[in-house]
Amino acid sequence: MKYAIAAFLIIGALAGCAKGAQSSAAASASAAAANNPASASDGGAVYVANCSSCHQTNGQGVPGAFPPLAGNPVVAGNPIAVIAIVKNGIDGRVEVNGQAYSGIMPRWKGVLSDEQIASVITYIRSSWKNHAPGVSVAQVQSVK
Ligand code: HEC
Repeated sequence: MKYAIAAFLIIGALAGCAKGAQSSAAASASAAAANNPASASDGGAVYVANCSSCHQTNGQGVPGAFPPLAGNPVVAGNPIAVIAIVKNGIDGRVEVNGQAYSGIMPRWKGVLSDEQIASVITYIRSSWKNHAPGVSVAQVQSVK
């Protein structure tokens, strides 16, 4: 019985801790975005499952084939433009840090939910050396 109580206390302490860490991360992110951004850690899983095959786990892409998302001014720039690219795909010429790409990225609308799109964009904007504010589900919903 004693052990059960001890285990319960430990689990409680761990849960409290995780919650504290999460809410402080959320607080600093929302101070930057000023609007309830989606979770970057949820976005990490979405990224690995859907994006890393082309853009690579380290966000460096493949020169000449898949543009880097790390250190990419478009990714860290206007959030609405990034949402539009991820939702609707992009087919044309993009130039990143002097290197041209003219591939096709399919649309993610209908494949990923708005929640997944918000969290994956929050992830790519805050990973590697990117330091841009996260995006919210409401912002993703606002882009058709
Ligand atoms: C099948 C390969 C592939 C996958 C998977 C993929 N992309 Fe892309 N992505 C591309 C290509 C190719 C481009 C450049 C398109 C062009 O040249 O017009 C691109 C462009 C982008 C851009 C715009 C970069 C810029 O500089 O304009 C963003 C942002 C982006 N992808 C995010 C994502 C995210 C987030 C995911 C996962 C949900 C993802 N991509 C999955 C191939 C892919």
